[in-house]
Amino acid sequence: MNYNSIGNTGLLVSELCFGTMTFGGQQEDMWAQIGKLQQKEVNEMMKAVIDSGINFIDTANIYSFGQSEELLGQSLKDLQVPRDEVVIATKLLAKMKDKPNSSGLSRYNVFNSVDASLKRLQMDYVDILYVHGVDPLTSLEEIVRSLNDIVESGKVRYIAICNWPAWMVAKAQAIAHYRGWHKFIGLQYYYSAVSRDIEHELVPMAVDHDLAIFPWSPLSGGFLTGKFTREGADSDSRRAKFDFPPIDKEKAYDLVDVMDDLSKIHNASIAQIALAWVRQQKGVNSTIIGAKTLEQLKANVESTQILLTEDDLRKIDKVSPLPMQYPGWMVERQSSYRK
Ligand SMILES: NC(=O)c1ccc[n+]([C@@H]2O[C@H](COP(=O)([O-])OP(=O)(O)OC[C@H]3O[C@@H](n4cnc5c(N)ncnc54)[C@H](OP(=O)(O)O)[C@@H]3O)[C@@H](O)[C@H]2O)c1
Repeated sequence: MNYNSIGNTGLLVSELCFGTMTFGGQQEDMWAQIGKLQQKEVNEMMKAVIDSGINFIDTANIYSFGQSEELLGQSLKDLQVPRDEVVIATKLLAKMKDKPNSSGLSRYNVFNSVDASLKRLQMDYVDILYVHGVDPLTSLEEIVRSLNDIVESGKVRYIAICNWPAWMVAKAQAIAHYRGWHKFIGLQYYYSAVSRDIEHELVPMAVDHDLAIFPWSPLSGGFLTGKFTREGADSDSRRAKFDFPPIDKEKAYDLVDVMDDLSKIHNASIAQIALAWVRQQKGVNSTIIGAKTLEQLKANVESTQILLTEDDLRKIDKVSPLPMQYPGWMVERQSSYRK
């Protein structure tokens, strides 16, 4: 396992981050369709995660309505994992109770939400706090200041962003910079070989701002594994019940065909080729993997041994080109003579 430093922080995280969205689902809701691992299975999974060298763990307050945080915190206690050997990230935004102030990024909810997460995790601090998405009601000024203050309180060490448009990230980072507040260190965004939207604006911005990229759903929720073909789908797979994240299926089938060929060359699975592709992309710091079983975890960890060649990458580009977008194509055209 290799370790990458996040931006210029000096904080080293494994090139794979383990996502805990499969922990805790109980009712037949969306979370249960993603995963239903309970304490015993969670402890087995977390032991394998730590033994593999992964030191970066991702959760969120909303995953199974708090149960993911609870199960994760308890497993680290049960396994006696020293707190200073793991980097724990959680998130806030989503509605945790049907009350007016139990969601969003207001100062009120930032402070309450972090306290509630720490209680569930049985921890005194989290290493990274993400805003999970956009809150249209709270001003950027209030959000950035609240995040600065929560870092100053010692309950959070670093702050990061999920799912914001690029302009908002750049504006928030500028507010933090000019106010002398704590700045964001990374971006958690959906990125897979079939969904390359972040390459338009977010990747160039991240590289320019020295923001680490942490891709989520690198297999597009299990689609890029060979379980879904034009002939049919594996009905046990979560994606067969919960069709998320949205993808261009025709493009994905073509991509799976190409990855199938590459998997034979590399003596690997289609999922491992898909993960290797994400790991090798510009700006990517740590890929957030998901696993329902120990076998999936093992396979995903082993994907770090695969190095796709320039020729392999070209073959993937051919079936998953980034669609042209304005002003991108005009920028490309007008600046070509300056290169
Ligand atoms: N910030 C955000 O908004 C956001 C959103 C979503 C996720 N996330 C984070 O990203 C993490 C990963 O997301 P994800 O679970 O959607 O990732 P993913 O890698 O796209 O999908 C994981 C799913 O694919 C299947 N799978 C995994 N490894 C496999 C393998 N080797 N072979 C065959 N099938 C395999 C499993 O489902 P089946 O066995 O059922 O097919 C597994 O649950 C989450 O845990 C969470 O921490 C963040």
